[in-house]
Amino acid sequence: MSNGVVYRVTGPVVAAKGLEGAKMFDVVRVGELGLVGEVIRLQGDTATLQIYEDTTGLRPGEKVVNTGQALSVELGPGLLTSIYDGIQRPLNVLREQSGDFISRGLVIPALDEKKKWDFKTLKKAGDKVVPGEILGTVQETPLISHKIMVPPGVSGELKELKAGSFTIREKVGTIKTAEGDVPVFLATKWRVRIPRPLTRKLPPDTPLLTGQRVFDTFFPLAKGGTAAIPGPFGSGKTVSQQQLAKWSDASIIVYVGCGERGNEMTEVLATFPELEDPRSKRPLMERTILVANTSNMPVAAREASIYTGITIAEYYRDMGYDVALMADSTSRWAEALREISGRLEEMPGEEGYPAYLGRRLAEFYERAGRAVVLGPGEKTGSVSVVGAVSPPGGDFSEPVSQNTLRVTRVFWALDASLAARRHFPSINWLNSYSLYTEDLRNWYVANIGKDWPGFRSEALEILQKEAELQDIVQLVGYDALPESEKGTMDVAKMIREDYLQQSAYDPVDTYSSIRKQYLMIKTILDFGHMEAEALKTGATATQVAAFPVKSKISKIKWTPEDQVEAFIKEVEGDMAQQFAGLRQEIKVQQ
Ligand SMILES: Nc1ncnc2c1ncn2[C@@H]1O[C@H](COP(=O)(O)OP(=O)(O)OP(=O)(O)O)[C@@H](O)[C@H]1O
Ligand SMILES: [Mg+2]
Repeated sequence: MSNGVVYRVTGPVVAAKGLEGAKMFDVVRVGELGLVGEVIRLQGDTATLQIYEDTTGLRPGEKVVNTGQALSVELGPGLLTSIYDGIQRPLNVLREQSGDFISRGLVIPALDEKKKWDFKTLKKAGDKVVPGEILGTVQETPLISHKIMVPPGVSGELKELKAGSFTIREKVGTIKTAEGDVPVFLATKWRVRIPRPLTRKLPPDTPLLTGQRVFDTFFPLAKGGTAAIPGPFGSGKTVSQQQLAKWSDASIIVYVGCGERGNEMTEVLATFPELEDPRSKRPLMERTILVANTSNMPVAAREASIYTGITIAEYYRDMGYDVALMADSTSRWAEALREISGRLEEMPGEEGYPAYLGRRLAEFYERAGRAVVLGPGEKTGSVSVVGAVSPPGGDFSEPVSQNTLRVTRVFWALDASLAARRHFPSINWLNSYSLYTEDLRNWYVANIGKDWPGFRSEALEILQKEAELQDIVQLVGYDALPESEKGTMDVAKMIREDYLQQSAYDPVDTYSSIRKQYLMIKTILDFGHMEAEALKTGATATQVAAFPVKSKISKIKWTPEDQVEAFIKEVEGDMAQQFAGLRQEIKVQQ
């Protein structure tokens, strides 16, 4: 394998000559600074490279060194709590070494090479081991036990395995295989473009609960499922993704900030380390990995950040964890693909995006799933993927939205007009959907209540009915509606305002347990049934609208989890009493 020279530089794309023996996706170091890049095309004696760092100042004639290795991530203890750039360099170390202006060409190990980890063994010399088998554990953070696994493709007999205190660079054991001895370390590498193997995929049957009512109740995501959050500028993509990262009931969170504005990522970097995990009360970062690649960083690294993130997610899945990955925003990745493709003078597809855009997106989302992971026994893990999409002008017919919707099974459509009305989260309940609803039905029935699927469809029907009635109201006015339809409008308003609207910033409302969601929706629907009865027997919607209990219902969402059952009892009591009072009044009048 020989070194080459730079021949032409066009932004992040560099042509080089003389790289004999280079393979597709080899990592190269380019120029005097040693910028990190990857071979993306080989044609005759010319290799085309995409560079993950700023190429300003790079000139023809500078040298190119082929590392002969594919772009890989390092996987081992120390990943959790880390904040990486697109090519897995720890941002804090980068900053320490080079200040705020990240200098180029720095090689920094992804994991701390000096830190000692306490390794507890589960296997011993003489044991036969297979790929994925857990050899031992390291308590990576107080929340997460890191499983040290036999790498995929390796099986044989353990020659030795040492418990004790080790760095990731110290050998802890040896596996004797048919091809020779394989050393065991606490960390391993994996090529980012290749999905990590698993035993078999499983159907989605458990929800990824998010604590966000509009998601969990109406458009649920399964563990191992895929969701898209498309939304115009400022409609709530980032806040929604952050809410999922904070509150969803995954064990591990991988948050990829891809090509978004620096200040949005700064907010993540500033707030996440302060946040507390709602279940364990430990810092949320102890189960989180952030990959940050902001809009001012080189575009090619956006692609790397997506692959880095998903590979880390698969690694924790292989340990048997439920992992959730958020990518904000996949549109910025697609734009990077478009830019690189343009520079390569490839035949453009729709709107200038490369013809392979759809395939790339599909391959990314296909890495999600719930699965029996490698190793003995039926150990399961999952990777759920939620991608934000930023269609220009909010027009979902553009290629990135369309190609994403083809492969994701949940569609959480953000709506600019809802955001403008300050209805948050501004998920449009009329055009969003989840294709997991039926898959998850049994889980909800068994764990929440037999009546849950009925509540869900009844509430959605009311909202749909409201949309139809609104058209009529536009024409003839509200007063012209029959009382029963006024009642429907009334309940729909309660569902929208007292249920769907949920503030990310209120300490109580920011998270609703699924039990609280059940009690809330039941109460609102009960009110609706009582109202419908009352209207049938001569009451008016105006009379019902004046009930004091209505303001109490609107306060359920602000009621802390440990008080909500008692508060709902009180609300139900008030409801029964006030409707009885109304019946009495009507009887007297009649
Ligand atoms: N669930 C929510 N609760 C309260 N406020 C919210 C919520 N979601 C969004 N908002 C408000 O909307 C604003 C814009 O949201 P956000 O930054 O998430 O939009 P975005 O779609 O990511 O925008 P951009 O296209 O600029 O990236 C937030 O700053 C916040 O004020
Ligand atoms: Mg955003």
